[in-house]
Amino acid sequence: MNPFRRPLIAGNWKMNAGGQEACVLANAVAEKTRRADRVDVVVAPPFTAIAAVAHEIEETRGSIDVDEGFGVGVAAQNMHHLASGAFTGEISAPMLRDAGATWVILGHSERRQHFHETDHGVALKAKAALEAELRPIVCVGETLGEREGGETLAVIERQVRAFMAHFAESPGFGVVAYEPVWAIGTGKVASPEDAQIVHARIRELLAEVSEEVAEATRILYGGSVKGDNAVGLLEQVDIDGALVGGASLDADGFTKIVDAAQAVAEKLAEEEGAPPSRERAAVEEEARELEALDADAASDARDAGQLIAVDGPVDAPTSMSVPPTSNAATGIDPATDLDDAVDHRDV
Ligand code: 13P
Repeated sequence: MNPFRRPLIAGNWKMNAGGQEACVLANAVAEKTRRADRVDVVVAPPFTAIAAVAHEIEETRGSIDVDEGFGVGVAAQNMHHLASGAFTGEISAPMLRDAGATWVILGHSERRQHFHETDHGVALKAKAALEAELRPIVCVGETLGEREGGETLAVIERQVRAFMAHFAESPGFGVVAYEPVWAIGTGKVASPEDAQIVHARIRELLAEVSEEVAEATRILYGGSVKGDNAVGLLEQVDIDGALVGGASLDADGFTKIVDAAQAVAEKLAEEEGAPPSRERAAVEEEARELEALDADAASDARDAGQLIAVDGPVDAPTSMSVPPTSNAATGIDPATDLDDAVDHRDV
């Protein structure tokens, strides 16, 4: 990641959770990720659940203590490139907007593979999405055969060149997701170094559109991302987030990935000298308050000791022997590493 691009973690639910369970999952994601104020979070339910999920998220937003920056976006997983017409079974960008989606995943490898989507077709959709002010997450990625044949970068180049010009008008509005086909749903994640090579190449290609597009566009990695491999990937300079499949169906598993992005973003911001996020500021404030309380307790203890010295030797009460850096009532040690406090927060 890079301190100047806000990370994005998107959950692609694929053909799962299309009914009532979608609302339960969306609600849990919204609740559990609400403190990740340095991360954009998106969920992509099936078409049938988009309106209900968008409504559920809106309700959740109203029912909790809203921080600025809180919010989960809703994405569709596909769309038609035309706005309306005689296309039985299809859904258009304006319809998705009406239903409450603000994002759309386009050109996923499962659509390229099973539904014969082409580079040209994906580019038409990207253009239509942008025109409808629906933020496209355009997927690219090589198959195992293409990787083994040494064609990875050539395939990526062909796929990115097909749509990249459409990103020119609103730098940063569209997103690219690199998802090596062999890593999707297989548990075989690309190594952070291999993924970084492809991401850097994608950024180089975007720079042909403009430097601004290259700098502003977030490039996500997708393919077996989990809580335990997310940090290594997200620490790569050109990996700006993740497109998550299987792990996004479990709110806790998904939240671990969001937390990983928050932690990496926090560290980068600190290195840049940026003020801490609200979450970090709250943890620091709590630590300061506890220290102040303990300092008061220590000073009371000293005063009591002086009185005892004046009045003669009396056993000091044991409660006065609490060390100044611990808080027995809360069990919280203000000296605790703040990273730990962030990582293990109860959300
Ligand atoms: P998995 O995370 O299940 O590998 O799926 C990745 C994916 O296809 C996201 O779009």
